[in-house]
Amino acid sequence: MSAAMALTGRAVVITGGGTGIGRAAARRFAGVGADVLITGRTERTLADVAGETGARFVVADVATAEGRAAIVGAALREFGRIDVLVNNAGITRPAPLGEIQPAVAEQQFATNLTGPLFLTQSALPHIGRGGVIVNITSNGPERGWHGASIYGATKVAMDFLTRTWALELAERGIRVVSVAPGITETPILTNAGLTAAQLDSAKQYLTRIPLARIADPDEIAWWLVTVARPEAGYLTGQVIRVDGGLGAA
Ligand SMILES: NC(=O)c1ccc[n+]([C@@H]2O[C@H](COP(=O)([O-])OP(=O)(O)OC[C@H]3O[C@@H](n4cnc5c(N)ncnc54)[C@H](OP(=O)(O)O)[C@@H]3O)[C@@H](O)[C@H]2O)c1
Repeated sequence: MSAAMALTGRAVVITGGGTGIGRAAARRFAGVGADVLITGRTERTLADVAGETGARFVVADVATAEGRAAIVGAALREFGRIDVLVNNAGITRPAPLGEIQPAVAEQQFATNLTGPLFLTQSALPHIGRGGVIVNITSNGPERGWHGASIYGATKVAMDFLTRTWALELAERGIRVVSVAPGITETPILTNAGLTAAQLDSAKQYLTRIPLARIADPDEIAWWLVTVARPEAGYLTGQVIRVDGGLGAA
């Protein structure tokens, strides 16, 4: 069986598939013959990626119960099952302690943590043996990160879900893996509403990256596809850090 064949016809759901890492993942999964469903809240970006890759799409907010039901419903209508669920949709709204707005914090928890948690729970009855859940996380818990109380907490919590679900789902033959990107060239910080000055100041992190550059989304997407392959069948409960060495520095 060739590497491409292994994912041919697999039903892959990618949240946040209209831009950034999710879009690159949709291209890569479609490129190896998977049947891809992308989701997000913006029809235009989803339709663009669908037109380019042949992916199906559903406009749905992962932070709401209705949105999650729409995602699972669309996957079942299109494919009848889910083989790979990529929990990729995420937002960051930086604020230091003292300036954290409850509603903005809630939005991050709902999008980055409880949304993917309950989406996975709804999808689970439709994921069979050999299925894979991939959670996109971020920096580990060892170091603080200025302004990232809520975002960082959601991502570290997702890594805990990865480890816990890996134990709970092992006997069903379902693997669970986190892919934790380093700083990657996507619209995420612009979407966060950062000013040009704040974006400049975020670049201070660049000097700390051993490989001395940020990642291209496709360099993250390659890992998403790779951990989902049947050949990666002995991998579960782990966090794969793809961060140019930042975590080791
Ligand atoms: N870029 C980085 O440096 C970096 C580093 C570490 C981890 N990550 C993680 O990588 C993942 C992808 O982010 P990205 O960098 O590729 O940024 P991005 O381009 O902004 O992608 C995030 C995607 O999530 C979707 N989304 C946001 N809120 C949603 C909601 N409530 N329901 C459904 N979809 C929603 C967005 O589409 P709509 O707005 O149209 O819904 C967008 O397509 C995120 O989990 C992020 O935390 C990124």
